Amino acid sequence: MGEGNKLTIAVLFGGRSGEHDVSLQSAASVIEAMDKEKYNIVPVGITEEGLWLAGGDPLQALLQKDIPGTSTYVTLATKPYAPGLVLLDMGSASVAESFIPLDAVFPVLHGTNGEDGTVQGLLELAGLPYVGAGVLSSATAMDKAVMKILFRYNNLPQGDFFYFSAARWEAEEEELLALIEKRFDYPCFIKPANLGSSVGVSKVSSREMLRRGVQEALRYDLKVIVEEFIPGRELECSVLGDDNPLASVPGEVIPCNDFYDYRAKYLDQRSRLLIPAPLEPEREKELKKLAVQAFEAVECSGLGRVDFFYCEEEQRIYINEINTMPGFTSISMYPKLWEASGLPYTELIDKLIEIALRRHARQTRLETKFRA
Ligand SMILES: Nc1ncnc2c1ncn2[C@@H]1O[C@H](COP(=O)(O)OP(=O)(O)O)[C@@H](O)[C@H]1O
Ligand SMILES: [Mg+2]
Repeated sequence: MGEGNKLTIAVLFGGRSGEHDVSLQSAASVIEAMDKEKYNIVPVGITEEGLWLAGGDPLQALLQKDIPGTSTYVTLATKPYAPGLVLLDMGSASVAESFIPLDAVFPVLHGTNGEDGTVQGLLELAGLPYVGAGVLSSATAMDKAVMKILFRYNNLPQGDFFYFSAARWEAEEEELLALIEKRFDYPCFIKPANLGSSVGVSKVSSREMLRRGVQEALRYDLKVIVEEFIPGRELECSVLGDDNPLASVPGEVIPCNDFYDYRAKYLDQRSRLLIPAPLEPEREKELKKLAVQAFEAVECSGLGRVDFFYCEEEQRIYINEINTMPGFTSISMYPKLWEASGLPYTELIDKLIEIALRRHARQTRLETKFRA
């Protein structure tokens, strides 16, 4: 335990991910809102190359893309009985302390190398409690194909999908195109299986667009998913908890583009969020129930934002996806929905840290050695 009875929490941000910049925005809000009476915050910025920076102001350094030569680099000690950050001697650093003990970590990282189970694995090895989903759940939710297989196993309503590897595409491109056209109507969606922020996602309506869409998706991943187009309103619901998760009031996204692409998410200010989403009480109830079921289907923990399509004509809700580290700025959908449900941002962070500590304590009690 850190200074007094404050908890020392490392906040990780940035990362070797297409969503590096989004993570910096989320982390700036988290650090600002965290209760300084309760926590000593150790900000740790991960560069686009994957180096971990601590000391000074790593957030400013990454925001300004100007990393001082005097920066201190750290790594996690894989020493479960005394977890913390070890300072790396990168030639120049002369630092007084060489070890920063930690009580927990808040990985405010989105996408590759942050939301996909990789950092979570490192944190497990280090013996540290951390906010959010574990290794399996993070990896599962990141891979849209595996996520949808679990949704199907749990009988959750979703559109048809099909996936294939880069190797299969290389071997039988024409056969795959024919197969997709037989199974799906145009338009359909083509996506890299493991990505976020709509990067590499295309809506295609001809064979040539389909071919280009696959090529585009293959720039980002070795696995591609094809999805049936679901026309409908885009609704989102925040889930919080561990064994008995709760769902927030639902919100609605009104993209300013044809679909909610990268531009509509981050660049164009005209996309709108409606909180709460205008819905009949029955639909809202159904949505919240499905959100919790989706959270449980991928064995999520801590937080998850579940995204849906709602076809008003058929009165049918379809699940699109779950995000295990959704956008977390103070104006992002995930915290906004909790705020609208009566849980302010700072308290939401407290809850997430509590859940992380509780889950870790339970896990620590499990046997790691077999004794006959
Ligand atoms: N099957 C689909 N039917 C209709 N719109 C879709 C479909 N899949 C994706 N979209 C649109 O594309 C956006 C991004 O797709 P999504 O699968 O959520 O990717 P990401 O994980 O990058 O957010 C969605 O918010 C929605 O606007
Ligand atoms: Mg999405």
